[in-house]
Amino acid sequence: MKTAFVTGASAGFGKAICRALIADNYRVIGGARRADKLAELKRELGEHFIALPLDVTDAASLDAACESIRDASLHIDLLVNNAGLALGIDRAQSADAKNWERMIATNVTGLAMVTHKLLPAMVEANNGLIINIGSIAGTYPYPGGNVYGASKAFVKQFSLNLRADLAGTKVRVSNIEPGLCSGTEFSLVRLAGDQDAVNALYRDVEAIRPEDLANTVVWIAGQPPHVNINSVEIMPVAQSYAALNIARNL
Ligand SMILES: NC(=O)c1ccc[n+]([C@@H]2O[C@H](COP(=O)([O-])OP(=O)(O)OC[C@H]3O[C@@H](n4cnc5c(N)ncnc54)[C@H](OP(=O)(O)O)[C@@H]3O)[C@@H](O)[C@H]2O)c1
Repeated sequence: MKTAFVTGASAGFGKAICRALIADNYRVIGGARRADKLAELKRELGEHFIALPLDVTDAASLDAACESIRDASLHIDLLVNNAGLALGIDRAQSADAKNWERMIATNVTGLAMVTHKLLPAMVEANNGLIINIGSIAGTYPYPGGNVYGASKAFVKQFSLNLRADLAGTKVRVSNIEPGLCSGTEFSLVRLAGDQDAVNALYRDVEAIRPEDLANTVVWIAGQPPHVNINSVEIMPVAQSYAALNIARNL
């Protein structure tokens, strides 16, 4: 049985990815800060789901989590670096510095450090797949995207650079870049619990769903070993592009 480690397993994409991987006969280790949510998922998913309370921004927590994986003699075949968040939608000039720090600590440092911990064993076994969850915000700028978008641009380039370093090994790396998705806590977290603003964002829009993302993860993981899906950009049909902004009479 293959083993997957999914960060951010307590909600949204991560939870759906755990469900889909269990259905695809994986043993799944799910990490997140909220132990109660992980325990709930454990009750639902049963013996092949291992709840692993974890804060990716805390080095000691990450050390302890990786130690418990080693102690259980589990080889990670699939790492899904999904834990992440956006905080605020203010323009850069009025954004809260604390929000920037937390986004960088989680989306950039946290993702890099989880990878740093688990990659050597994958290379040693000459087997493994890392699926990073980036965002279309890492490619397309928008007002208020500032540090969140930049953190996802890091995920995009880190994924490509990992591939460069892993040349000559069988370890694979993919980056999934989703657009607007409903059914997760992402926007409620970003908009500081303002449910009216969340409702306004998703009003009359059929966004992608966590299950769509989970299907994509299972599809990537199901490719034959000689195939590396470098990136997948996935948006709802209802989302597309706007023209570049032009400020007149500047
Ligand atoms: N929803 C979208 O529209 C969208 C679009 C593009 C990309 N994404 C990306 O997709 C990923 C998942 O987002 P989502 O929509 O599923 O959001 P979500 O429902 O808010 O889930 C985020 C998950 O990350 C975990 N997490 C946050 N900080 C953490 C930390 N320090 N340590 C460990 N776990 C942490 C949360 O668990 P705890 O709070 O229990 O720690 C939660 O399980 C993120 O990387 C996000 O940037 C989302």
